[in-house]
Amino acid sequence: MHFRPFVLNTPRNILVTSALPYANGELHLGNMLEHVYTDVWARFQRLRGHEVVYLCADDAHGTPTMLRAESEGVEPEALIGGLRNAHVRDLQGFLISHDNYHTTHSSENQEIVETIYLRLRDAGLITTGEVEQLYDEEKGLFLADRYVKGNCPRCGLADQYGDNCEGCGASYEATELLHPVSTLSGKTPVKRTSTHYFFDLPKFTQRLRDWTASDAVSGEVANKLAEWLDAGLKPWDISRDGPYFGFPIPETEDKYFYVWMDAPIGYMASLRNYINGAGKARGIDFDSFWNEDSSSEVVHFVGKDIIYFHALFWPAVLAGAGFRAPSRVVAHGFLTVNGVKMSKSRGTFVLAETYLKHLDPEYLRYYFASKLNPSIADIDLNLDDFLNRVNADLVGKLVNIASRCARFIEKNFDHMLAAEIHDAELWQAFQASRQTIADYFESCEVGKAVREIMALADRANQYITRHEPWNLIKQGDKVEAVHGICSQGINMFRFLMVCLKPVLPETAARVEEFINAGPLQWHDSAEYLRSHRINQFVPLMRRMDKKALMRMMDDSKPPDAPESEAAQPAPKQAKDAHVSLDEFLRIDLRVAKVLAAEPVEDADKLLRLTLDVGDGTRNVFAGIKSAYAPDSLVGRQVVVVANLAPREMRFGTSEGMVLAAGEGGKEIFLLSPDSGAEPGMRVR
Ligand code: 2FM
Ligand code: ZN
Repeated sequence: MHFRPFVLNTPRNILVTSALPYANGELHLGNMLEHVYTDVWARFQRLRGHEVVYLCADDAHGTPTMLRAESEGVEPEALIGGLRNAHVRDLQGFLISHDNYHTTHSSENQEIVETIYLRLRDAGLITTGEVEQLYDEEKGLFLADRYVKGNCPRCGLADQYGDNCEGCGASYEATELLHPVSTLSGKTPVKRTSTHYFFDLPKFTQRLRDWTASDAVSGEVANKLAEWLDAGLKPWDISRDGPYFGFPIPETEDKYFYVWMDAPIGYMASLRNYINGAGKARGIDFDSFWNEDSSSEVVHFVGKDIIYFHALFWPAVLAGAGFRAPSRVVAHGFLTVNGVKMSKSRGTFVLAETYLKHLDPEYLRYYFASKLNPSIADIDLNLDDFLNRVNADLVGKLVNIASRCARFIEKNFDHMLAAEIHDAELWQAFQASRQTIADYFESCEVGKAVREIMALADRANQYITRHEPWNLIKQGDKVEAVHGICSQGINMFRFLMVCLKPVLPETAARVEEFINAGPLQWHDSAEYLRSHRINQFVPLMRRMDKKALMRMMDDSKPPDAPESEAAQPAPKQAKDAHVSLDEFLRIDLRVAKVLAAEPVEDADKLLRLTLDVGDGTRNVFAGIKSAYAPDSLVGRQVVVVANLAPREMRFGTSEGMVLAAGEGGKEIFLLSPDSGAEPGMRVR
């Protein structure tokens, strides 16, 4: 995907959006994946000094909202009001930094949707046509596909929805179903014809091809769009018959805009509402974002299921009404939990509210960030991995750098950092990564950015371990060296926290207080603090408690369900010592390359190994000192258990196990793959 290089002193104006959550249900961790993705990107742009307006809203309209309100015996307005409050609460709980969170059921949205519709109509882009649909006479409703079931017209399979068959995969019209039944009343619906309003989407085929080719979407999404464009676009039905919870179409009788017509317009309405309200003082101009010749950016983050709406309908509607097209549509995959689709009955459907009751939002922000990328592949929340990664990376590596150094600066140097850089080459290595990290964030390769940052955290820790300031401080003539080393540790930590501020905004705020040099901005990562006074060190982050994680999963179980699979500990090994193939395959054996090896002070048998495991580096303590000189190992490949739960040791965290045979002493034989193997290859 194309991205704009950062040019100093030319702030960009960027309007960023997350897809609007439906106003008829609570938010879950899948919603949070998208909001965290957008939020990290928006915060990164702000950190770089750009002018960002991050907007969202509830997507209020449609039949499901109407039906849920009806079943709860309340007006739709009351239902969506309550849910909007709950959404705002959860989004704030996850530290999502929207500048405005509006609703599509608003005067601003109604005004803009009418304007757009009338412009389209006056441009000859709206036609009418008769549509035959199934109608539930008891409910007095035309039935959308999801509200009708029957036998598949191709293979006869019973209990199939009105759009396609789960058995043979056929797509069909609901009116073709055999023995259709309304899921709302249980009655047989009748066929009824009514007039619908259509938007002339095919007219925009060439424009959409051009837009697709403009780097607005990833190559993967462009391919999908090309398939749809090649298959031929059809006029898009933008109307629904009443009763319907939505906006009436001007100059019609009992016709309403289809929810997907006014939903994306909600992005514009949220901006209008912001400009007239809380955002007034910022002097933002609506037209400068949406005019055809706008030089500002509009960037939408969406799930892969709604690419069609955002990359075909939306740009075409905008073009037809004389507005600019989005600059980028960033699509992502779905969230799975422990490798499978989130499911209420399995107890893996975790509500945002439930998560927040038990765990720190920054844990999940970090875990998501470590996996985010611009492809539409699904993203898995593996609960074991979640616990291990957060504790190993954030507590074991990141925060560890500061806590190892701060006490010396406080006790021995009166809170003052040294005047000189201690290891200029190492600092230079950090500087050399700056642009790479920024480019990764910019191009939505957040996971790669996080890996680059954590590899630097490893280097910072190795540097501190190698110099052993805790020993040097006992030698009178080395006190200045300790000052230099620990000051550099604090500076490297500050660098890392600048980079992670978009992901960990609350921790960053604590770090800003501790470092005492103002709010972190991107350019601070280029600065080395010398002779600077830092504040008292405060604990920056707590380890994730496994019990809290289990309680969250327990709270997500449906009532009366057996222990959820997700919350169960891994199966105990059977007495006969056989492991099932499944159990064996759970073990992530990988080829790794030894990047560095060093003895561990006060540990006779241990070497500290830094391993390249393909997707990053790991710190592993291996009891092989009696058989191997550290230098002889550097560059050599070994086999490592990569998903062993990290172990806290006196000297640091061990993040895996290197496989070796033999009895110990000189009799230790490392397992190594034949040449040709590469770090990260799975071993089977
Ligand atoms: O799929 C959804 O959850 C929709 N509510 C997203 C709407 S995004 C925008 F178009 F409004
Ligand atoms: Zn079928």
